[in-house]
Amino acid sequence: MQTAGLFITFEGIDGAGKSTHIAGLAEAFRAQGRAVALTREPGGTPLAEKLRELVLNDPMDPLCEALLMFAARRDHLQQVIEPALARGDVVLCDRFTDATFAYQGAGRGFDLDVLGQLERWVQAMPEQGGRLRQPDLTVWFDLPPAVAAERLAGARLPDRFESQPLAFFERVATGYADRMRQEPARFARVPSDQAKDAVWRDVRQAFEQRGWLRAGVGA
Ligand code: TYD
Repeated sequence: MQTAGLFITFEGIDGAGKSTHIAGLAEAFRAQGRAVALTREPGGTPLAEKLRELVLNDPMDPLCEALLMFAARRDHLQQVIEPALARGDVVLCDRFTDATFAYQGAGRGFDLDVLGQLERWVQAMPEQGGRLRQPDLTVWFDLPPAVAAERLAGARLPDRFESQPLAFFERVATGYADRMRQEPARFARVPSDQAKDAVWRDVRQAFEQRGWLRAGVGA
């Protein structure tokens, strides 16, 4: 079993059902003796959680939105993600930069080249000789936007993203597909329009295949 730090991110449109599987993975890793850092974006530090409040609720233009997402990310990387990886923890992060490309890029139509520049600034880590921090694996919960909308309907008071029309989420889903096409080895795509147990089986399999979880042990 690998004991170096692992950086795992989870992506998908709103309503794709990430949360229970992230919790299940935390339990499975802990059952195998690994320390787990559970975190999320935007957020994960006191400063980044304040920025989350603003970006999910206050009206702003797409550049401002992208800058706040990356500002929150920079603080999160420095305060939480890098120290956890240096300790050898498994970092399970609910959303990361693929969400910015999908939501601000594909969804809002913001310039992908500018997002790429911000990605390079924010994720360059001096302790890695300036190398870009990227996830070791990104689990993409791929759900048709119409199904996600049905699941979300009436669930709770929607934020600025959840209240977007179906066409927005169609674009976001395309944005995720484009990111996966650019870096297929980093992604595990999990078809999420199936029963929860089947989704969980696929998620677990992605980790077992990489030798990161032992089959049949833990949750
Ligand atoms: P989410 O992580 O799904 O949290 P919750 O389950 O509490 O709603 O919501 C965060 C929202 O922020 C989601 O709609 C996607 C959006 N988002 C972006 O638009 N860009 C980003 O870079 C990130 C990280 C999230």
